[in-house]
Amino acid sequence: MIVAFVQTKGGVGKTTLAVNLAVERVKRAGRNVLLVDADEQGTASDFTAIRSERLGAAGFVLLQASGGEVRDQVLKLGPGFDDILIDAGGRDTASLRATLTVADIVVVPFQPRSFDVWTLDKVAALIAEAKALNPRLRAYAVLNCADPQGQDNVEAAEALADNRQIRYLDAPLVRRKAFPNCNAVGLGVLESPQPDRKACKELIDLAEKLFTLTPRSSRR
Ligand SMILES: Nc1ncnc2c1ncn2[C@@H]1O[C@H](COP(=O)(O)OP(=O)(O)OP(=O)(O)O)[C@@H](O)[C@H]1O
Ligand SMILES: [Mg+2]
Repeated sequence: MIVAFVQTKGGVGKTTLAVNLAVERVKRAGRNVLLVDADEQGTASDFTAIRSERLGAAGFVLLQASGGEVRDQVLKLGPGFDDILIDAGGRDTASLRATLTVADIVVVPFQPRSFDVWTLDKVAALIAEAKALNPRLRAYAVLNCADPQGQDNVEAAEALADNRQIRYLDAPLVRRKAFPNCNAVGLGVLESPQPDRKACKELIDLAEKLFTLTPRSSRR
């Protein structure tokens, strides 16, 4: 399955979700994973470099690509992998648009705050446009940095009820220190020497809901 992490707003957790799910796919699901860093900031690549140095090998293959190269490389290399995760970066770029032409599933991380909820309409417009070229594309919003409990989460989910392009996937990740702490040392939360059980459970729940979605008529 080809899963892209997309949000035109920065700092919402695209890279955090992409790298943690790459680790989850490799470690828990035993999948052969390609992680595509299509963000010029190169954060997923930096994470992978730290990880490879620490562990000897990342466990997944990293590819850096930009613009139309994202599509070309994914089409070329894709058949050799079980799962392809694409970190598409935080702006409306040629890389992001190329990503939307090859993805099966788009994950749109958002925080339960009004500024994030407002940007979902902009992402929905991009998705609608991309569907003309890629009709099998489906988009799911995932709450990240959610509050442990409270009305904001419920309201953020409800804000998507009328969105025709993006559905709400009920697998929120709460704001937890484990995520930045693990990011900084090149590990997924599942691999931490002192695992945060709640963070692990949330990540596994997200992975299970996401990777059991059936792509419309995926190549794989
Ligand atoms: N669930 C979480 N709990 C706590 N911190 C988090 C969580 N998810 C992400 N973060 C932190 O929030 C910051 C932004 O996350 P991240 O870099 O993944 O976002 P991004 O959408 O990829 O940003 P950019 O648009 O700049 O690429 C990072 O410092 C990350 O460690
Ligand atoms: Mg990022």
